[in-house]
Amino acid sequence: MKLFDVYPVNDITIVKAQGSYVWDADGVQYLDMYGGHAVISIGHTHPLWVARIEEQLEKIAFYSNSVHLPIQKELAEKLGKVSGKEDYQLFLCNSGAEANENALKLASFVNGRKKIIAFNKSFHGRTSLAVATTDNPAIVAPVNQTDNVIFLPYNDEKALEACFKAQGGEISSVIIEGIQGVGGINIAAESFLQKIRSLCDEYGALYIADSVQCGYGRSGKFFSHDYAGVNADIYTMAKGMGNGFPIGGILIAPHIKPKYGMLGTTFGGNQLACAAALAVLEVLEKDNLIEQARQRGMYLLNRLKAVKGIENVRGRGLMIGFDVPEDLKDLKKNLLYKHQVFTGEAKPNVIRLLPSLAIARKQVDEFLDLLQEEINQLKAVTPSTEEV
Ligand SMILES: Cc1ncc(COP(=O)(O)O)c(C=O)c1O
Repeated sequence: MKLFDVYPVNDITIVKAQGSYVWDADGVQYLDMYGGHAVISIGHTHPLWVARIEEQLEKIAFYSNSVHLPIQKELAEKLGKVSGKEDYQLFLCNSGAEANENALKLASFVNGRKKIIAFNKSFHGRTSLAVATTDNPAIVAPVNQTDNVIFLPYNDEKALEACFKAQGGEISSVIIEGIQGVGGINIAAESFLQKIRSLCDEYGALYIADSVQCGYGRSGKFFSHDYAGVNADIYTMAKGMGNGFPIGGILIAPHIKPKYGMLGTTFGGNQLACAAALAVLEVLEKDNLIEQARQRGMYLLNRLKAVKGIENVRGRGLMIGFDVPEDLKDLKKNLLYKHQVFTGEAKPNVIRLLPSLAIARKQVDEFLDLLQEEINQLKAVTPSTEEV
């Protein structure tokens, strides 16, 4: 049987990983500045994470949500403490798309409405409503198309106000990434998030904070939405939550009352996934990784701003992007194949950096040195018009 070929892949086979490094089948070491799609939060193969999973595996890996699962309560308690949202409620699932799907559905159950506001360049996942709220027609199948989603420009308070004024009574929810990832590292203005909060309050809509990529400490706060000083009604999470073990979840504000059957899942919240997620929170807390992400991110951002040739360096914490001009178009590929550094991209010309929150200062310096070296080499081959 062949694999269903939906991913263009790099010609590399990774067989081992530790911290911020991975190794291929020939033993070649790579620096991971991408964390496998922003998933690696506490570092690859962290010993406490491995031990927690192994210990759980020896006891029980799975039993369904039809019985008491104390480890889910343990996770909810710890998550409340680390995120600072202790009065919220937790629903567990398996992925980011599923988290958003559940959030949008829950909002609609709460207020009985159908319309959703999403934003240009958004990415919320590939399932039914998640993809319908994603601003990429190429991945929306005819069956996913709906008139219930309204796309507005990101950070445009006037457009948002006008939309609520025209059809506020029909809006069920507003879904927004605090920092757009796939869209190219675009930061939501604090005043914009505050405006979403006040309009949702005024019109009875729910504010859904997609924190699948920008959450779990990556921005230097637990949720990047926290920078705005307002609370969302629902936070969606996945990626960094399990450090590579598949788990997702939504945090639900106390005013939202549960009802049997409202949401459900077979695998969501299984014991093994909860053990992995608990290990992540324990390490985040023990090693003060959220504050470290903030500081290390600031260092990386400032050093990048001084690198000549790249443009529009932006980000928060360890969620950083910059534009790559035409004369450096091979930068990402060359970093990988010549210097063994994984980075991410956003179309058409953005390099995204999403390393582990535990990345060491010397690894950041190693990256900066290799980046500068490659830029120098590319510029030596094609001098920019500025320098000619
Ligand atoms: C902001 C955001 N939301 C949702 C998703 C979907 O997550 P998953 O791939 O786990 O379904 C992603 C994935 O990249 C994402 O970046």
